[in-house]
Amino acid sequence: MKQDWKPGTLIYPLPAAMISCGCTAEEYNIITLSWLGTICTNPPMCYISVRPERYSYEIIKRNMEFVINITTQELAYATDWCGVKSGKDFNKFADMGLTAGKASIVQAPVIEESPLNIECRVREILSLGSHDMFIADVVNVKADEKYINAETGKFSLEDANPIAYSHGQYYELGNKIGGFGWSVKKKKS
Ligand SMILES: Cc1cc2nc3c(=O)[nH]c(=O)nc-3n(C[C@H](O)[C@H](O)[C@H](O)COP(=O)(O)O)c2cc1C
Repeated sequence: MKQDWKPGTLIYPLPAAMISCGCTAEEYNIITLSWLGTICTNPPMCYISVRPERYSYEIIKRNMEFVINITTQELAYATDWCGVKSGKDFNKFADMGLTAGKASIVQAPVIEESPLNIECRVREILSLGSHDMFIADVVNVKADEKYINAETGKFSLEDANPIAYSHGQYYELGNKIGGFGWSVKKKKS
């Protein structure tokens, strides 16, 4: 038996990413977001959905740029903290001991401690209700060489212990159960 629930967005698990924004050191801020995702491969595009009352909202709207920083087990505490404290009251980089590094294309800083920084430039802002959706082009990606295999050039995000967010809880990823297309791969005889 299944129960009918009132409409809601129960699409989980999701990332819990730290979004860095701001154009100058005084303006730099970090906001944790789960309402974000991929919307196009080519051109590479993604979205973030932010409530207008967030301190970061005006910063992102003003600069039309942000960086999505993938979070890891090591960054889990800072991820949660940056999602419950406001840049209005705290310097989140300083208080979490995070390093604001230079991005390659955008003015917004990258979080050096994150293994993957996705630099984004906003194309369009859609007002949807509780949240505004920032539709953005990915203009550069910075990947930590620590997770790049020197021989194959393959980037292994799994080695950085990325975390997921599901229904109010944070999780590490579990065991690998298959690769893309494994269900149709011919078994070696
Ligand atoms: C796991 C997690 C996910 C969140 N996702 C969102 C989100 O998608 N959109 C949003 O507007 N706020 C989201 N928040 C809340 C903001 O991160 C929070 O209000 C934060 O304090 C805002 O920071 P700011 O005032 O410095 O901008 C989330 C918080 C957490 C902990």
